[in-house]
Amino acid sequence: MTTYVEAIQKHVVLPLEKATNRIFTQTYNPFYYHGALPNLFLWVLFVSGLLLLVYYQATLATAYDSMKFITYEAPFGNAMRSLHRYAADGMMLFVLIHLFRVWFTDRFREYRILPWITGVILLTVMFVVGLTGYMLIWDADAVALTNITVNLLHAVPVIGNGLAGFFLGADLSGSALITDYTITRILVLHLGIPMFMMFMLWMHYLRITRPVTNAPTGLVFLMLSGLALFSAAFPVVLGEAAPPNFNVALDPITFDVLYAWPHQLGVAGWDPALIWLLTLAVPVGLLIVPYLQKKAMRGQFAQVSKDNCTGCSLCYADCPYEAITMVERNDGSRFKKLSIVDPARCANCGLCVGACAFKAIDIPRCDSKDVLAEIELALANQ
Ligand code: HEM
Ligand code: SF4
Ligand code: SF4
Repeated sequence: MTTYVEAIQKHVVLPLEKATNRIFTQTYNPFYYHGALPNLFLWVLFVSGLLLLVYYQATLATAYDSMKFITYEAPFGNAMRSLHRYAADGMMLFVLIHLFRVWFTDRFREYRILPWITGVILLTVMFVVGLTGYMLIWDADAVALTNITVNLLHAVPVIGNGLAGFFLGADLSGSALITDYTITRILVLHLGIPMFMMFMLWMHYLRITRPVTNAPTGLVFLMLSGLALFSAAFPVVLGEAAPPNFNVALDPITFDVLYAWPHQLGVAGWDPALIWLLTLAVPVGLLIVPYLQKKAMRGQFAQVSKDNCTGCSLCYADCPYEAITMVERNDGSRFKKLSIVDPARCANCGLCVGACAFKAIDIPRCDSKDVLAEIELALANQ
């Protein structure tokens, strides 16, 4: 029976790949660098963000004026702001492509569960980084975003007042006043979470053999020039200044759909509990997905025949997933070592089967005829 993943692979992923290969060629197809491109945008964000920090002043009285200075007066200020804004959108866009691609090419479960879980954490915290970025501008939209965030935090059962108080930098009694401490906290979140993301990325790559973290130079050049051209053609503008009383909820003018969709629902009058449910449904749903899907490869990890294994360690040397360990033998065999496969780490790649000259390691139910048929089908769809 065709699973939904196989159907999407056949009807969406492969045709899309075919079409984009015609435009970019196989060497520079961005779909093949779906993991590397978010990395590229992350570096653009780090560099442009550092330059913005030179002029940004995080107090209620100065934040908006410092943004005005950056946008209209500081040398290259607007260019840096535009690059920063569009790199954030580009990163989110490619992360979503990355997510759907690993999902619909079935490269996200079983031994790949660690990159998937850390990926969901990355996606969630990216959302907070983007949101706090919009707040830092401290124009009317930013003040509205902050007020809606405070309302949403207050609506959390039991700990809501504490959370809102923590975010505002107020006491934990439930007071809801925006002060200078609030903007300092927003800045700390906006700068601190990316540091945490670096740690998460390290964990993200931990179980991936030779992760492709960099796109080829030609594609990097293409992406960076596209970003620069887009920033020059559509430089970001500064919104209206907020009225002096920051603690009054405002009708927002424009909100970013990628980062502030729950706030849009807040403006549309949705119940905060429902907004939280929807917002949390995204990461929770993504965390559950790998466990809902049938374990197609269950039992198909490499298996060693004790009788044939000579302990030569060739499989151990070749296994790219560190799934094999060589252990001392004390079963009366004339050979000193035995190869042991850890099923949780084995990716069924079959390299060890090729490495073994003694027919001592095999992947059951992985018939070479079936494998060839699968390859032929994939090639026919290219
Ligand atoms: C900051 C955002 C992210 C960055 C920079 C990033 C980067 C990467 C890179 C460079 C790889 C290796 C790709 C390869 O070698 O072909 C990778 C693999 C992977 N990522 Fe991400 N990722 C991010 C977010 C996510 C998210 C949101 C998810 C899903 C929820 C995710 C799930 C995965 C999975 C399952 C793999 C393993 C794929 C495989 O083994 O083929 N990642 N990621
Ligand atoms: S099939 Fe063999 S080489 Fe591949 S991951 Fe499993 S043990 Fe390692
Ligand atoms: S390559 Fe074959 S014989 Fe050598 S250790 Fe691995 S399973 Fe045993």
